[in-house]
Amino acid sequence: QVFDLLIINGVVVTTDETREVDIAVIGEKIAAVEDRGSFKNAQAKKIIDAEGGWVMPGGISNHMQVHLQEPQLFGKGSSCDTFETGTRSAICGGTTTIIAFAPQSKTENSLLDALARTYAKAEGTCYSDYSFHLLVGNPSEQALSEFPILRSKGISSLKIYMTYEALQLSDYQILDVLFEARRHRITTLIHAENNDLILWMTRKLEERNLLAPKYHATSHPPLAEIEATYRAICLSEFIDVPILLVHVSSPTAAETIRAAQTERNLPIYAETCPQYLFLTKHDLDKPGFEGARCVCSPPPRDSPADHAALWRGLSNGTFTILSSDHCPFLYDDTTTGKKTCITAQHPQGHFKYIPNGIPGVETRLPLILSALTTSPSLLPLQKFVQTTSTNPAKLYGLYPRKGALLPGGVSDADLVIWYPPPGLEPFELRNEMLHHACDYTPYEGKVVRQWARWTVLRGRVVWERDGVGLVGRKGEGVFVERGGSSLRGRVRGEEWEVRGF
Ligand code: URP
Ligand code: ZN
Ligand code: ZN
Ligand code: ZN
Repeated sequence: QVFDLLIINGVVVTTDETREVDIAVIGEKIAAVEDRGSFKNAQAKKIIDAEGGWVMPGGISNHMQVHLQEPQLFGKGSSCDTFETGTRSAICGGTTTIIAFAPQSKTENSLLDALARTYAKAEGTCYSDYSFHLLVGNPSEQALSEFPILRSKGISSLKIYMTYEALQLSDYQILDVLFEARRHRITTLIHAENNDLILWMTRKLEERNLLAPKYHATSHPPLAEIEATYRAICLSEFIDVPILLVHVSSPTAAETIRAAQTERNLPIYAETCPQYLFLTKHDLDKPGFEGARCVCSPPPRDSPADHAALWRGLSNGTFTILSSDHCPFLYDDTTTGKKTCITAQHPQGHFKYIPNGIPGVETRLPLILSALTTSPSLLPLQKFVQTTSTNPAKLYGLYPRKGALLPGGVSDADLVIWYPPPGLEPFELRNEMLHHACDYTPYEGKVVRQWARWTVLRGRVVWERDGVGLVGRKGEGVFVERGGSSLRGRVRGEEWEVRGF
């Protein structure tokens, strides 16, 4: 027996266990996971000595905006990564699968058109494996009737918005989507912020001529998120269908979710992101226009106490998923970037026009693991794997092909191998180290001590940090068909079955 790849001397961390084992790969799949030294006499085309570093299933980033020239969805401007640069950035940070958005505009009826358009942009250009969530801007009769076709094409999730002029759905429309999602076992992601509250606060700030980037945070207060989170939970409970609340930033919103999960036993899932663990609203309060770099929605919150509450939510299971919400806009660009909000009328810029979103797909795993290297009590390593890989695989119907290291050809050989504890000599993160198309990182200068040392995609090394760099190729990533969620579904009646109504 000749293996294609052996990974020896690693500490393998999965959601279930942490073990000193060696991994054998045949073709694109995990063939065997055995005690250290088991493959001593085996032949292999390539051997990686992990030198005691952690070996984990490759990261899954289920929250990516990598479309170019889409209608201006999140303010002016258009996001700067393509599928090529976004997925390149992903693999260099240990993420082997991304799920990006396929946006349907408010003026189009079909979801399949949106899917086809996005698929055409991705096909043949990705460095990582990929799939799409439909972003439903118009739940027309036609769009709702297309849900079973989406499922037949391997698409099992969609995202809807309670805010943003270009995307906001009414509660009535949300009920339509949730009902149809229940019938077809589709996971619905919800962006929960109260749009009217944001618009009202924005006008109050404008009346006082308070327009600097930091007022983005003032105009998106925690209560806007808390109210919409509670409302989304009610709509989900009424229809009896699971939802995922994306990019949760407010500890009180997290408590609201926790109560739904523990006191009412509801299948409410939630995601948080590194920006809500590392940034605060003070990062928007910089001289001049600098704060625009950290403008995203919801905004980073008040203080390290908020960060601590969200870390606890990751530990106790309130948060199912820790994703990136990678939505990069150039900073220093007046036609597509953050500076599109600088106009003759607003020479210093106006916060309400700054495109919302920040880059983060490459820094997600290294930043979190660096924090855990310094402060292991923040989150157990197995929880890290669970929230960044295994749970997204389960919720989005990729498990156990992705998100696991199951032998016998069950799991793809998607792996990320880290530096042995205590990690690298601490160094300062710089944007030029990254592989996205963005001209900044919100974490410039942050001290880190971990990075993906090797990333393996379906058995092939695609990133080798020491002395080699990017070895993956454009087009090597494939579209992965997804099934339904394997996390707990309906509460009343049979799992995911049509009852009542
Ligand atoms: O500011 C953000 N989060 N931009 C990306 C779009 C979204 O709502 O996730
Ligand atoms: Zn239907
Ligand atoms: Zn969102
Ligand atoms: Zn997003």
